[in-house]
Amino acid sequence: MFDRSIKIAPSILAADFANFGAECRAIEAQGADWVHVDVMDGHFVPNLTFGPAMCAAIRKHIKGIMDVHLMISPVDSAIESYAEAGADIITAHLEAGPHIHRTLQAIRASGAKAGLALNPGTGLEAMPNLLDMVDMVCVMTVNPGFGGQKFIASQVAKVRLLREMIGDRPIHIEIDGGVTVETAPLVAAAGADVLVAGSAVFKGGSVDNPAPYGQNIKLIRTAAEAALA
Ligand code: DX5
Ligand code: ZN
Repeated sequence: MFDRSIKIAPSILAADFANFGAECRAIEAQGADWVHVDVMDGHFVPNLTFGPAMCAAIRKHIKGIMDVHLMISPVDSAIESYAEAGADIITAHLEAGPHIHRTLQAIRASGAKAGLALNPGTGLEAMPNLLDMVDMVCVMTVNPGFGGQKFIASQVAKVRLLREMIGDRPIHIEIDGGVTVETAPLVAAAGADVLVAGSAVFKGGSVDNPAPYGQNIKLIRTAAEAALA
């Protein structure tokens, strides 16, 4: 059943890259709803992370939803390999190529749920033509490529407009970038339900001391839910 309640999706971009399996287990044990996996190609974005083999390897350490954010271009030829790696949701960028409609079709055909990411400079003009193709829209609240950047406040109005466009459709709104205890309430009130957070979840903790992960997740969730009350 579709669930619009607040979900916290820690981004493993802020985890210990030498310890992904243990980090995934730790954040789930500490209350993460989804695990957000940032794939970067050094071309679409100026940073390089990992590919499908790494996603397949960490899949075994994730019990819940593996949310794979592809910051790669071209994207279509890579979709199948991320579906085979066990992604539950595959998100592609509208800006990654000229044929986003085909890309979203290919994601659904792979068996994964389809996510559509929008850079901060991208408007909502294409949405009426894509709403029937997506299970999630990811509003980037930083320019993609790096963790630990400052939240771009102008995106809150975009989230509100997107929430209106979605209406009763079973489409999640995910926020990615600069989510903290301070910014989470703004986007939750505007209609977002999936909050990605890297630095704000992992700060102060480690696999040997994971309790801060749990405290951080709880603080972000409580702040977001308070904005809905
Ligand atoms: C940015 C990534 C984000 C990033 C978020 O390109 O898509 O998922 O890890 O990190 P924070 O929460 O630190 O902004
Ligand atoms: Zn991301």
